[in-house]
Amino acid sequence: MAEYTLSVTTGAMLHAGTFDNLFVTLVGTEGQSGRTQLTSAGLGNDTGKVGTFAVTTAFTLGCLLLLKVEKDPFHEFKDQDWFCATILVRTPEKDDVFFPCYKWLSRGELVMLRGGRATKVFEDMHPRLKKHRKEELVQQKLTYKWDEYAEGMPYVFSIKDVNRIPTEARYSFSKAAEFAYRQNYAKEELSEKGIRYSTERWESFEAMMKVSWFPRSPLSEMVPQLWRNDDFFAYQFLNGVNVYVIRRCSELPSNFPVTEDMVSPFLDNGTTLTKEMERGNIFIVDYKIMEGLPTTIMDGKRVPLTAALCLLYMTPEKKLMPIAIQLGQTPSKDNPIFLPSDSEVDWLLAKLYVRHADTISSQLVSHLHNTHLIAEVFAMATLRNLPMIHPLYKLLIPHHRSTLYANTIARATLYGPGRALDNSALSAEGQVQLMRRALAQLTYHSLCPHKDIAARGLEAVPNFYYRDDALRLWNIIHSFVKAVVSYYYPSDSEVLADSELQEWVAEIFNYGFLGNISSGFPSSFQTVEELIKYVTMVIFTASARHASVNMGQMNYLVWIPNAPLLLHRPPPSVKGNATMDDLLLTLPNKSIGTLSMSLAWFLGKKYDDFVPLGQYPQHFSEPAALKMIEDFQAELSTLSKAIVKRNKDLDLPYLYLNPKEVENSVTI
Ligand code: FE2
Repeated sequence: MAEYTLSVTTGAMLHAGTFDNLFVTLVGTEGQSGRTQLTSAGLGNDTGKVGTFAVTTAFTLGCLLLLKVEKDPFHEFKDQDWFCATILVRTPEKDDVFFPCYKWLSRGELVMLRGGRATKVFEDMHPRLKKHRKEELVQQKLTYKWDEYAEGMPYVFSIKDVNRIPTEARYSFSKAAEFAYRQNYAKEELSEKGIRYSTERWESFEAMMKVSWFPRSPLSEMVPQLWRNDDFFAYQFLNGVNVYVIRRCSELPSNFPVTEDMVSPFLDNGTTLTKEMERGNIFIVDYKIMEGLPTTIMDGKRVPLTAALCLLYMTPEKKLMPIAIQLGQTPSKDNPIFLPSDSEVDWLLAKLYVRHADTISSQLVSHLHNTHLIAEVFAMATLRNLPMIHPLYKLLIPHHRSTLYANTIARATLYGPGRALDNSALSAEGQVQLMRRALAQLTYHSLCPHKDIAARGLEAVPNFYYRDDALRLWNIIHSFVKAVVSYYYPSDSEVLADSELQEWVAEIFNYGFLGNISSGFPSSFQTVEELIKYVTMVIFTASARHASVNMGQMNYLVWIPNAPLLLHRPPPSVKGNATMDDLLLTLPNKSIGTLSMSLAWFLGKKYDDFVPLGQYPQHFSEPAALKMIEDFQAELSTLSKAIVKRNKDLDLPYLYLNPKEVENSVTI
């Protein structure tokens, strides 16, 4: 007789336990066990519980290959899914074999698990393992099918109904409940105040202040006081929610004819625009990507969306200040260049149209397209091409948690025809056109912060906290990925021989970047070094980059004049005529304004089941890999402390790349 001891762990989330009968079968090189019941009394309905069970066989099974787990198809109680987290098997030879599962099982379902050391496809020698590996991917490709959302955009997960998404890809019960509560809270509050469908304009800024019903962050409380200030306006290009547009300006674009005379009053004594451009003190934000997009029709007219340009100056006091704004790409008499010396209202209006373009760019380009949709492509490729036993599956799967679900919800409620963003300046067709342009412009370098910062000439900009934190975080992620990848791929030949890995990157290239060679994204890997950089980029995009555009919404985007999704009036074509009432009539009406506030509120919120960067459910069993994760966590913790310390001395702290505040994956 031989005895195998199983430690079976139920997930720690709400409703993970079950009263159903469970069965296991062990499969080894020398035979398999009988179908053995794990009594429900041993696991019960508790979450996070570890039950210990014995499986007895006549002879030892040799090397353990697979573990079949089944949930009884017949039971007198109501069906209750069970979340099987992990199973640890101690063999009669006293070896421990670890089987990660992390799946929900319904009544009558079974799952066949692989355990032990992570392997690549060419390392599996046993025919049973080879067959299982193939079958797992066939099944995954049936479950996770690509769908073309729109021509010229990244492909997406084919399932459109969130209720049909596999259970393990969904939100946890607690997050789903919290999400629904927040949505309903916002809707009911707006209905109660009679503004949910109100097309009335705001009578005053005070009225806007009063409508802020929800708990606000300390930083968001400051924005209504600061939004008119030039330094706050400029600060957001470096440390707000859209830090991906600003670049150094060493030569004025030909369509932005700012003269020395225009801006000399705003430069330091004795200097000129030309000199400051040479010194690297002039910067530009250019929203050319918005030019000519079809906008929403309201009251029979298309609402404006200006492809604005704004020139900025870094003062000797190291303060970034706007010095010229043009509200369109074509200079003309009707498209004047606005200056800080114009009337207060003219200058404020000019900045408002820039903020409008920046908000659309922030939400649809930097956030939705460049993080959510790109992260979805990474997740799909992993689920379809890498079996659970693959080392890169184990490394990456925590960075794909909830991404498909969050994006499916976004497609059902946020963007596309009849969705919430129809209330923005861009119609559904405009949203698609903008994201099509975003993909056409996206390059591999732009997703790697060192290259991105260098390409935009921002290496030496003072007080650029996003850059400081992003580069440190990239380096920490890179060191971790380098350790893990080098351990499993000791030489380039392993990378070349891993057909699953090559299919993974090829799918991302074809379905995400549409085979665009000029984007610089690879379609295959030749070396370990290439693989390390790419995997670092995948993790950085799904975690840090997303945090940089998501978490600050709660602070910067809830104040309507700082983040208008729609403006009702065209930009001024002459100076000197506008009044403060004109500005109020330009701002989004009550229903649209409060919709964008509530979106920023419930999307930028940290949810209860938040998992910070580097906290992983156990997938690896090799002590070396577990130690690498520990080292990674220690590095992240050191960075976190340094960022907290730095922020203590700042009037406006930069909070979003503190590793403790960065979520592992795109979850909302
Ligand atoms: Fe997000």
